[in-house]
Order: sequence, then C-alpha cells, then structure tokens
Amino acid sequence: MKFVHVLNGPNLNLLGTREPATYGTLTLADIEARLTARCASEGIALSFRQSNHEGDLVGWIQEAGAKGEPVILNAGAYTHTSIAIYDAIRGSGAKVIEVHLSNVHAREDFRHHSTISAVAAGVILGFGALSYDLALDALISQSKTTKS
Ligand code: DQA
Repeated sequence: MKFVHVLNGPNLNLLGTREPATYGTLTLADIEARLTARCASEGIALSFRQSNHEGDLVGWIQEAGAKGEPVILNAGAYTHTSIAIYDAIRGSGAKVIEVHLSNVHAREDFRHHSTISAVAAGVILGFGALSYDLALDALISQSKTTKS
C-alpha cells in the first residue's frame, strides 16, 4: 500500500470541543498527526481531509476508487442517511474501512443503521481516536499479507 485516504464527514472539524464525553478531547489535527507519523514510518503517503458537504465526500471516494487507493472513512451523520456515499463506494469500487469514534450501537436508535457498512470492507467503532489507528493497522496488515 503506497497511499491511503482518510476522509471525515460533517462536524468532525469540531472534535476536541464537540461532546467530549462521547468523542474525546483529541482534535482532528491530533488524529491526523498520529496517522501521519505512522504512515511516514511505513512509507505510505496520506491524504487526510474533512468536509461538512456530502458531495465532497462522494468526489473524494470516487477519486480514491479510480486510483485503487484505500479509504478510511468516518462519514459522521451521513453514515446513517447517505445513499450517495453508498453509491460512490459501490460505483467506484473503492476499498473503504468505515470508522466511528463512538459505539453507535450504544447510542440513539437512528445511529444503529449504517448505509455504508454493506459496501465497506470492514467496520471499526467505539475506540475513540484509536478507531482510526486500528483501521490503518488493518490496511497495513492486509497489504503485507495480501498480494495486490
Ligand atoms: C460518528 C457517529 C455518528 O453517528 C455521528 O453523527 C458523528 C460521529 C462517530 O465517529 O462516532 O458525527 O461517526
């Protein structure tokens, strides 16, 4: 694996101050710094982006899929509603690991369903910022054990 995309959806720019009891106190920049360091040590280039707009996420997923580059995706609330993101993953063939900071199954009913999980290669949730690190670990392990 030479390149990985980490895509973050709506309101994740507020991490650090947003509901810290649920999402922790690390900022998105803190998470990016951790993943950047790990990627650097593995010789992997990282693109780390956030948008509050569904169409941006759709475009970035299409871009990654076209290049055959894997995606770690926290789609935020779009996880629960977005057929456009489902279609982007399916249509582009992007390999996506769905991540969430919180354990969405222990929260409100409307968070229990993900439109993305059915087209994700895997799902990691409930470990706070560590969910992102675990997703990266999974991709690195797979790329070392799977011929591509
Ligand atoms: C989230 C969970 C979603 O339900 C919520 O809308 C978010 C963050 C998480 O990382 O736990 O914005 O994806």
